[in-house]
Amino acid sequence: MGTTADLDRATGLGQTNEPDGTTGPVRAHAPGQPAEQEPEGTDLAAEHLLRIINDAGAGILLSIGYQSGLLDTMGALPPASTQQIADAAGLDERYVREIVHGLLSTGIVEAAGEGAFSLGPAYVPVVTGPGVDNLARMTRYLTLMGEVTPKVVEAVRHGGGLGYEDYPGFHRIQAEESAAVNDASLLSEIIPLTGEVGRLEAGIDVADIGCGQGHAVSLLARAFPASRFVGLDFSPEAIGEARAEAAAWGLGNAKFELADVAELSDESAFDLVTAFDAIHDQARPADVLAAVRRALRPGGTFLMVDIRASSVPAENAELPWAAFLYAISTVHCMSVSLGQGGAGLGTVWGVQRAERMLREAGFGDVELKDLDGDPFNAYVVARP
Ligand SMILES: C[S@@+](CC[C@H](N)C(=O)[O-])C[C@H]1O[C@@H](n2cnc3c(N)ncnc32)[C@H](O)[C@@H]1O
Repeated sequence: MGTTADLDRATGLGQTNEPDGTTGPVRAHAPGQPAEQEPEGTDLAAEHLLRIINDAGAGILLSIGYQSGLLDTMGALPPASTQQIADAAGLDERYVREIVHGLLSTGIVEAAGEGAFSLGPAYVPVVTGPGVDNLARMTRYLTLMGEVTPKVVEAVRHGGGLGYEDYPGFHRIQAEESAAVNDASLLSEIIPLTGEVGRLEAGIDVADIGCGQGHAVSLLARAFPASRFVGLDFSPEAIGEARAEAAAWGLGNAKFELADVAELSDESAFDLVTAFDAIHDQARPADVLAAVRRALRPGGTFLMVDIRASSVPAENAELPWAAFLYAISTVHCMSVSLGQGGAGLGTVWGVQRAERMLREAGFGDVELKDLDGDPFNAYVVARP
């Protein structure tokens, strides 16, 4: 818990009479020591900090509410008591009550009469459902970050990084996050950005590097039966899941291989290479981009989907989720790269640096495209 001085500062209760007769804030000081004048704006800074701490608390409640199914249940119920909500969700009432009361304080939950609660109508689309609009899904990263924080603090002290195995459930969470986007728009909006739909229908060779659990590959293989697809990843767990989905779908034109894509030795083997959120956490990103360039046939296309941000840190102050990106980077993306002795590009490497690295890898034609409804990602279409 914070100190009394923290609370006093944020609530204005710590104001004292100054020697000149004015009233001003004082820095907390030891008994018997003279009070020190605080820099201007310290009250506002303290308020800001308390808002951050409070919002972080709301993020944790949302993550638990999402993962336990509480939010989806509330979205489907009329105003209800915490006992009715708990019964409908199959959850423990005491926990439900605590979470509902916490979210009530944020405005995400509304009180509807004596002892009855519901999600605020405007929040229903953004905290429930399987689609891309459900932002509560992203709060799982907050709680995942908490699990590995002690190891990250050690890395901050001594250098080095973490391994993918340090993040329990990472591949599943990542796969669910990207499946929501890909189910909604891979075929209808993302792939058309490459200009390759016609050739995919006719039959070409496609590789997806850092494919994770491979859902994008399976969606493409099902949609374009004349083309041949390979998903590459160095995680046995992810490749196992990818193979299972392709088998369950009966796909004969999709295969998945365990491979370090920095070591990719294929030359002129593919007409289209895709990388979904799989370059910035590479240990050797420059080698991977050069390998992709070599693996493309003449006239081939590389679609690189990666985080949309600026390579100029000050410019990211404009980005409403920049701090979240830097947190993910510190705790995961940069850290797993450093853990392999890698470059540690970081999640926020930015589109300017991405373009420069693509050109250095031999891509002469680099286009940055937007996708309506996905402000988080940059869609880069590159050709040799
Ligand atoms: C952030 S995940 C993205 C996964 C997937 N493309 C998606 O959008 O859900 C990055 C993936 O790259 C894989 N990866 C990282 N470095 C790799 C390397 N050198 N070779 C192969 N896979 C790699 C990781 O195992 C992980 O599955």
